Amino acid sequence: MKIAPSILSADFAELANEVARVSADVELLHVDVMDGHFVPNLTIGAPVVACLRPRTDLYLDCHLMIDNPADLLDDFAKAGADSCTIHVELGDPRPLFERMRAHGMRVGLTLNPETAFDAVVPYLEEIDILLFMSVHPGFGGQAFIPEVLDKVRAARQLVDERSLSVELEIDGGINEETAPLAAAAGADILVAGSAIFGTADPGAAARRLRAIAWP
Ligand code: DX5
Ligand code: ZN
Repeated sequence: MKIAPSILSADFAELANEVARVSADVELLHVDVMDGHFVPNLTIGAPVVACLRPRTDLYLDCHLMIDNPADLLDDFAKAGADSCTIHVELGDPRPLFERMRAHGMRVGLTLNPETAFDAVVPYLEEIDILLFMSVHPGFGGQAFIPEVLDKVRAARQLVDERSLSVELEIDGGINEETAPLAAAAGADILVAGSAIFGTADPGAAARRLRAIAWP
């Protein structure tokens, strides 16, 4: 049971300080990488991960919302990413899994809200993290799409039946109302941007989310 603040909602000009405000209360930092093509927004890339790496011991969970992950994986590995999560909508992810493993990174796979759970089932044995998008990727602060919970429940059941080690992560619209729903559906990792960095005390917000999700 882990909390992953999304730095997308942090003050980028104060990034190291923002991270310091949550680091005692969370396990991962979620890094939203957007290229302006796969999603209609442009954010940050491997150079920012490289700057964060010496400033925190937190696990750097890089969510690649980009058309060309194959071209940038090496950069993220060198920058110190602990895992990269790629979108199944881009096509066969297996060659990239191999590249991530060769770099010693953990392997993440993600699916958009409208993508069926079946699309990721063939890969469950090969990944460490399965990330469910509970908003349309691109922006923080959107409303949670509750239908995604059916997929989380289906994944929880399959992962438990097969005793797989894949962690189930959910991303988008997680707040004090939706965190308990996601946790009850079987999510192991809750990503939250605005619900953590959009508050006056991000550390306290992360603690509250955890307490509400997993009482
Ligand atoms: C959306 C990103 C999310 C985003 C979540 O494309 O993948 O990680 O930062 O933000 P909130 O928690 O505000 O919905
Ligand atoms: Zn994300």
